[in-house]
Parts: sequence; structure tokens; C-alpha cells
Amino acid sequence: MTASVDTTPLPHWETVPGDLKAAIREVKAALRARIAASGRTVEEVFAVIEQRVAARVAEIVAQKERGEAVWPVIDYADIAAGTVSDEALALLHRRGCLVVRGHFPREQALAWDGEIVDYVESNRFFENYRGPGDDFFGSVGSKPEIYPVYWSPAQMQARQSDRMARVQAFLNRQWRSESDGVRWFDPDRDSLYPDRIRRRPPGADSGGLGTHLDPGTLELWMTQAYQRAFRHLFDGTVEQYDPWDAAHRTAGPQYPGTTMCSVFRTFQGWTALSDMDHDQGVLHTVPIPEAMGYLMLRPLLADVPDDDMCGVTTNKVFPANETWHALLLQAVSGIPDVKAGDSVWWHADMIHGVDPVTDQKGWGNVMYIPAAPWCPRNEAYAPSVREAFRTGSSPSDFPAEHYERTWDNRFSFDDLNETGRRGLGLG
Ligand SMILES: [Fe+2]
Repeated sequence: MTASVDTTPLPHWETVPGDLKAAIREVKAALRARIAASGRTVEEVFAVIEQRVAARVAEIVAQKERGEAVWPVIDYADIAAGTVSDEALALLHRRGCLVVRGHFPREQALAWDGEIVDYVESNRFFENYRGPGDDFFGSVGSKPEIYPVYWSPAQMQARQSDRMARVQAFLNRQWRSESDGVRWFDPDRDSLYPDRIRRRPPGADSGGLGTHLDPGTLELWMTQAYQRAFRHLFDGTVEQYDPWDAAHRTAGPQYPGTTMCSVFRTFQGWTALSDMDHDQGVLHTVPIPEAMGYLMLRPLLADVPDDDMCGVTTNKVFPANETWHALLLQAVSGIPDVKAGDSVWWHADMIHGVDPVTDQKGWGNVMYIPAAPWCPRNEAYAPSVREAFRTGSSPSDFPAEHYERTWDNRFSFDDLNETGRRGLGLG
């Protein structure tokens, strides 16, 4: 019998199912049946991905043992001049993460850091701080590590800068934005995605953040759009699975929750506002884009209880752990030392975490700015971003803290340039 692609519809839930466990059982049975209909077994299909990933893990473990840097590094100057070598591009594709050196001049980044301090202090933020609005990040004493501040001039200047737009376009172009006659996103136009700031002071102790990923939770298996996006994993054509293909990813719904991200991001990222050494509680990733295929197929194996997606559930980050993903975690690799003005990026499906630190040396300050290209999903989120911008509110993806509503020195409408206007869907 020749293997054929089964196109019978899978059960799907476009909003959060009422009975999660029942829905997990149902969708797992249907996904297994679809794989079986292709003439292959779940074990065979998983083995294909496991081998691909295991080869990368071995390569990364060997690099780490030799004391070599795992993270690709590209100078901003090369991105701006279009002189990034083919070799550097291939490594970026292979590892799915990147440090951009000198993305902004160091003095600019340090000045922004100082301006953020002035901005929050002039508005008596620390006196009025009410504690963490969610339990996603731990807090240190009374002063927060994560500032729920979105609309400072410094953040907006960085978001709408030419330098940011160039790097975002470069990163967006690592993905396939067109296929089957559809343009899934516009790589040259970013949708402005407001996120927070982290400022972690010298001497801080921090528990870090466990390894996880952020693209979503159960909707990755349970909604029609993601079932199409990950179709090759489930229809017997696993060899064609491409973690850089944006097909069917830029319009579908997200299940609401405290960890949701309404927009499609090609890369998550942050810009350093202080120098940070590699051993001071910094970001780590499993720098293997194909690992997403492993994470999506692993729950279908027989050793996972029928009503369990390897611990993935709504309202909780998607965990990567030793129980189910031990192979992947061998490849965890930290960023190199970075300077203020460098930026750090990782594929939006990538496993990442933050190392713990005690008695941190120096500051650990970053502005979270991702690459989120213009597409139907991001266009749908843009009106709520515009409204939050207009009123100084917390964006709807984040806890409703709204500190900046009464701060009159926030970035104003008149300060928007063309990139900023386009990013908000105004131009
Ligand atoms: Fe995360």
C-alpha cells in the first residue's frame, strides 16, 4: 500500500474546550489515527524527528565540551550593509537564535536605561507599586524586577527606530513568508508589540525561569490553523516539516490566558540596556528549531497518559522538562557576554529559560522587543495596542495594571515616526 495523506478533518476547538482532559484524549486519538492512515506508525514518525534533533544535540554538546560558543553572533553593521556571510546565515538557520552586536550604540542604550529610571521615578512608580500583576516572574523585595511599563519615550524610540526595523526585517526573512500562493506575512513591516522592561540590580538573587516555550499551549494541537501549520508532523510527511514555514500560523486564534501572546512573532527578543556577563543569570535556549516537532509529537507516544500533553495545559507556560524532554535539555546553551546596545533573539517556538543567579554582578537590564511582522493576526491585535497607547494602558496581553495612564511624560502620538505609525496600523 502506498502512503497517502489523510485529509479527514481532525476534531478541533477554536475556543478553550470545557473538558480539557476529554479534549486531549480525543485529539490525541485522532492525531494517532491520522498518522496511522498514512501507513506509518507514531513511533516511526517520532523517530524521524528524534534522529534529526539528536544529531543537533550531539553537535551542540560537543561544541560546549570544546568550550566553543554555540550562539551565532552577527554585527549590526553587516545586517545594515547587507554583508552577512552565507556561513553566518546558515548558522543562524541551524541554531535559530542570534546575538546582534552593536545593534544600538552602547551610549544610546545606557542613555535609554537612565531615561527609563527618570521616567518611572518622576511618576513615583516605586512608591505606588502594588506587587506583581501576575505570577509569571518572581519579584525581588518591594522593587520589581519586571517593570509593567510600556510607553516610555525610550521604549518607543527603540521600537520605531530604523535600526530596529532593519534587524526585524532581516530576522523575519529567515522565515518563509509565502507559500501556496499566499503571503502569510509582510517581512518588511513590523507590528509594534509593546512589552515590558526588566531591570535587575547588582546584588540581586533570582531563581530564574525554568525551560519553557511561548507560542501557545493546547491550541497548538487543538485549533484548525495550528493543525494545518503542523500538518507534516501528523500526515505521514514528517520529513517535510519546516520550523521556518509561516503557513497557517498568522491568522488563527490563541486560547486566552495569563501567558498568551496575541501576535505572531518570528523571533522573540530583547535589547540589552546594561552590560551582562554570561554567568549572571542570563537567557539560555535549546538552539534547535526542529525541537518543536519533537515537542508536538512526544505526547502521542504510548508512555504518556492519554489525557496528558506532557504537562502542557492552558494558563500555564508550555514546559520543557527532564521527564519528557531530557534529550533536548542536554543542548541548553547560554548567551555569550553582551554589552548594552546588543540585542538577543530566538525563534518564537524555541525552548528557553533564564538561569538563577545569586549576588548578581552589575545590572541586568533589558527592553523586550520582538520581531512580529504584519499579518492578519497582528493586524487584529493592533486596535487594542493603539487604544492602550492612546490611554497609557497596559496592553491586553498583559495584566491590567495601567500604571502609566496618569503619567504625562509618556511617549506621545506626535512623536511617532512613519515606522511607528505603520507598526500601529496607522499608516
Ligand atoms: Fe518565555
